[in-house]
Amino acid sequence: MPSITFKKNRVLSQDLTVEAEDGLTILRVAQDSGAPVGSNCGGVCGCSTCHVYVVKGLDSLEEMEEREEDRLDLAFDVRLNSRLGCQAKLNGDDLVVDISEESLKAFFDENPEIRKRYEATGVLELVPRHHH
Ligand code: FES
Repeated sequence: MPSITFKKNRVLSQDLTVEAEDGLTILRVAQDSGAPVGSNCGGVCGCSTCHVYVVKGLDSLEEMEEREEDRLDLAFDVRLNSRLGCQAKLNGDDLVVDISEESLKAFFDENPEIRKRYEATGVLELVPRHHH
């Protein structure tokens, strides 16, 4: 089973590695594990709050479709390895993913309770969230 490692960042105090089935999106795996990836539009390619950088395993992913490219054009700090977490699906290889600043902010906006506890303790609680 492939895995996704969400890299340590200003919110995640250490790398978070989770195993997941092929065919699941990066966003879905994040939601199942509590990793702080935003999903304003509910995962339908309608925003860019699930923007992540794929630092390992990028070549294993299917190429972007036009609507993902169009959405990413509107994202902040887009790089060559940018993908939308709700569109990019595990495809055989392990992935290492860096969550964009845009996505971290959106995650906290969408989860005020988690933000509150994070601000009080300095530790992000990994709470699996239900998805659409
Ligand atoms: S969650 Fe909105 S584009 Fe991915």
